[in-house]
Amino acid sequence: MRVSVKRADSYQEFEVPRQPSQTVLDVVTYIQRVLDPTLAYRFACRVGMCGSCAMMVNDVPRWTCRTHIDRVVRNDKLEIAPLRNLPVIRDLVVDMREFFDKWSRAKGEFRGRQTREDDCAPVSPQSETRRLADAGIECIGCGVCYAACDVVKWNPDYLGPAALNRAWTLVNDVRDRETLDRLRAVAGDAGCHACHSHVSCTERCPKHLSPTAAIAGLKRAVAKAALQGDL
Ligand code: SF4
Ligand code: SF4
Ligand code: FES
Repeated sequence: MRVSVKRADSYQEFEVPRQPSQTVLDVVTYIQRVLDPTLAYRFACRVGMCGSCAMMVNDVPRWTCRTHIDRVVRNDKLEIAPLRNLPVIRDLVVDMREFFDKWSRAKGEFRGRQTREDDCAPVSPQSETRRLADAGIECIGCGVCYAACDVVKWNPDYLGPAALNRAWTLVNDVRDRETLDRLRAVAGDAGCHACHSHVSCTERCPKHLSPTAAIAGLKRAVAKAALQGDL
């Protein structure tokens, strides 16, 4: 198989043997271990949990450790590049700082109401808020949705699908005490209203989450809080 790997401003070609059950991450690892030890890339868990191995594969953002070659190879060729919409540090490694800074700007940290002295907060598994929080909680912070979003490309200040999905998850967490601050944080020009509902984030999320639905929920919650004079 012919593999083109983006390095700085050009592509470098490698010939990689096909193997059964081979993933894109296996291919990149083969190149780095056998053909060119200077190739930089990032991974950790190899089982779809850490979110660190995301790259562009034939121009589509994917988690490479869970993407089998058979699903993506075209005419025995593959093109691999660093994740879109983020600065490149080297080769296939992007700088995720801006991505996680936006989680922080969207108030993506949990702020509990209880103290260490309190009992655990009871949250009914059947409640509507628990169901909505559960829908977004499995995000692994891989950045695939962020690379898929054209609004991020046009407007670098846009908080993006992952940070907004996180904000909506916490808005629905009844144990959290910062809902209004969080709604204020996502109500600005770079927040939920900048989303054009293109759905590419939802189509690409490897965990089958729907940031698009989360952002729609935030839009409703922001509008409701504004009408009530809370924002
Ligand atoms: S739905 Fe919104 S956040 Fe998702 S890709 Fe489209 S514009 Fe970006
Ligand atoms: S929402 Fe999905 S695609 Fe986006 S960072 Fe989380 S797991 Fe990755
Ligand atoms: S290496 Fe951890 S998700 Fe791919």
